[in-house]
Order: sequence, then structure tokens, then C-alpha cells
Amino acid sequence: MLASAAAAAALLPRRLNPNPNPKPYLLKRLASSTTTSSSARTTPPNPQIPISGAAAATAAEVESNPTPLFLRPAEHPIPATSLAAFRRRAESLIPPTAPHLHRHLRWLLADAAGEDPALLRLPLGDLEALWIRHVRDRRPFQYVVGNEHWRDMVVAVREGVLIPRPETEAVVEMVGNVEGFEGGWWADLGTGSGAIAVAVARMMGPKGRVFATDVSEVAIEVARLNVQRYGMQDKVEIRHGSWFEPLEDLKGKLMGVISNPPYIPTEDLPGLQPEVGWHEPKLALDGGKDGLEHLLHLCEGLSSVLKPGGFFVFETNGNKQSEFLVDFISTKWDSSFCDVGAVLDFADIKRFVTGYRR
Ligand SMILES: C[S@@+](CC[C@H](N)C(=O)[O-])C[C@H]1O[C@@H](n2cnc3c(N)ncnc32)[C@H](O)[C@@H]1O
Repeated sequence: MLASAAAAAALLPRRLNPNPNPKPYLLKRLASSTTTSSSARTTPPNPQIPISGAAAATAAEVESNPTPLFLRPAEHPIPATSLAAFRRRAESLIPPTAPHLHRHLRWLLADAAGEDPALLRLPLGDLEALWIRHVRDRRPFQYVVGNEHWRDMVVAVREGVLIPRPETEAVVEMVGNVEGFEGGWWADLGTGSGAIAVAVARMMGPKGRVFATDVSEVAIEVARLNVQRYGMQDKVEIRHGSWFEPLEDLKGKLMGVISNPPYIPTEDLPGLQPEVGWHEPKLALDGGKDGLEHLLHLCEGLSSVLKPGGFFVFETNGNKQSEFLVDFISTKWDSSFCDVGAVLDFADIKRFVTGYRR
């Protein structure tokens, strides 16, 4: 289906952003040795930076706005001198140990500016509060601006929803390599921002469909927004509920199941870097004992929803989990699945487990 004019306009690259694909910084998903080698650019904690009660309240209010900053109307007049003064104040908060924050400041100002440089998309006080929360509280930059660049998309995100990671982009390619995928019915379980579901749907033909589920209401809301922004309402159906529960009517009908479930061992959660551990939803991270609770549940339910020949891909915590799952599925469910194996991510870590229903 064609996107409406408004949706198409919303998808235009940010003209004021000097870098159309900034990938602000690659947040390491895990603190364990099996994590990707992506270079995590983190902001050193700086609790000395004062934040007034009023600014903290402003930040909380601004953060609850679900619309990505660059999509908000530019309606707040800003004298050039005030903006220059803000820039100086913001720069003065950047410690020498975190030079990447200069880049973040440029991106933030690019997202906040209207086409008319005399207009901002939010009041200056709100901008200041957001910046302090980023520098001081290590709130991920993606939550500050309300979006993440993922594949060729700009995905809306906000607190309560996992920021989609670069390594997860590979599952879309895997789906695209399945013969006839474009006409099949797929499920994206634990869809979060809906990034995977939307990306897969955009490659599909008219008969293809993705059922995107999540137990989190915030995720459902954000996924819906992303589906709308990309005009995929006819191809992606969002369903609220736990794992396979919302798919009762689809038993034996799916060509594929995709999931990037929570897979961090509960005992590893306290070791996560603050950007992740303090700000991203535990519901999206906590995989229970050994990080395998949800993955095992997903393996259990697979055979009832997939049709014969159906494909599955799960993202995992890395080598140990993937090896365990490949072995587990191949021995326990040998009669149900074939071609089960681990797939490497761009850091040569066995990040994914894939296979086919017999
Ligand atoms: C690691 S995040 C992945 C989000 C998204 N698919 C991505 O790759 O960016 C895991 C997702 O699973 C969801 N989730 C957790 N428990 C769930 C459950 N019992 N049923 C469905 N979804 C669940 C979380 O809310 C979260 O959105």
C-alpha cells in the first residue's frame, strides 16, 4: 500500500541533520564477554552537574512526549543570541573524556531546529532539561531525540521500549532469503518498537503479512506509531499479549517466526552499562535464569504455529546460548525441526539460531 502524503512527508530525511544516518552510539547490549564488539560510546557519569527541581520536572514532562523531536512542529521562537548562549552552556557541561557529546549536541540542535532557524520544535528550557539528563544521567541519546536510525528507517523510540540494535538488522536479511517469504504470514514476537516487523513488511508483496506481538503496552503504542509512519497498516497487524497467546487463530499457518526476546541472564542485569541498565525496560532485557527462559518458551511453542517448511530465527545472547539452543532443539525436537544452526553477527558471534519446521 502507498503511504499517505502526510506519512510520506514524515519519512523524508532530516534536511537539517548533516548526517542522515548518524548511529549515535552503539550501545552494547550486554556486559558479558559474549557481547558484540561494537564500540560502546558512553557518557561518563557526572552527578556533579546540578539539575534544579524545575528542570527535572520539565525533563520528565518533555520525555513523556511520544512524538520524535524532529517530527514536532517548529513553533517556539528563539533569538539567535539565546540559542548561542544555550550552545555555550551545553558545551561547558561536556567533560573532556566524552568528546562524542559534541556530536550529540550538534544532532540534538539539528533535530530541535525548524526549517526557519528562528523557530525551535520545543521551548529552550525543555531542550536544556533534555541535554542535562543526557549528560548527567546517561539517558540514551535515542530517547532524548525519540528515534533511532535502523537499516534505512528512522524508528521512533521512547522510554519503555528497547532501542533497536544494529546487530538485529541481520534478521531482516535472513527473512528475505527465505523462498517465497514475501507472500507468507510471519510473526514478530516481542516486537518492541516494531522495527523488525515494519522492515520485513516493507519487503513483502501484497499477500504478505506480519503479526507483531508484545506484552508491553508502551511497545504496542510505539510499534503502532512506526507502522503508521511507514504506511504498513495493511501488512502489519499488532497484537497485544504474551508470546504465542495472541496467535491462537494462526496455528499451523505461519511461514515464519522471528523473535529477539529478552535474553540477558537475570544475574547479569546489575552489570549492564548505565545507558542500558538505568534506562531501558527490564521487561525487554531480563531473560531469567541463564537468560534462556523466554527463548525456551518460544522453542516450545514454535511447532504449533509454523506450517510445514516454516522458518524461525531467534536472536540470542551469543555463543553459549546459541550453541545450547541448537543442541537442545536438534536433540529434543529432531522430529519437528531440521537445518537448525547458529548464524554469526557482524562481530563473528553466534548471535542467531535458525531452522525449519519439518
Ligand atoms: C529485546 S526486546 C526486542 C524488541 C524488538 N523486537 C527489537 O529487536 O528491537 C524484547 C521484547 O520482548 C517483549 N516481551 C517481554 N516479555 C514478553 C512476553 N511475555 N510476551 C511478548 N513480548 C514480551 C518486550 O516488551 C520487548 O519489547
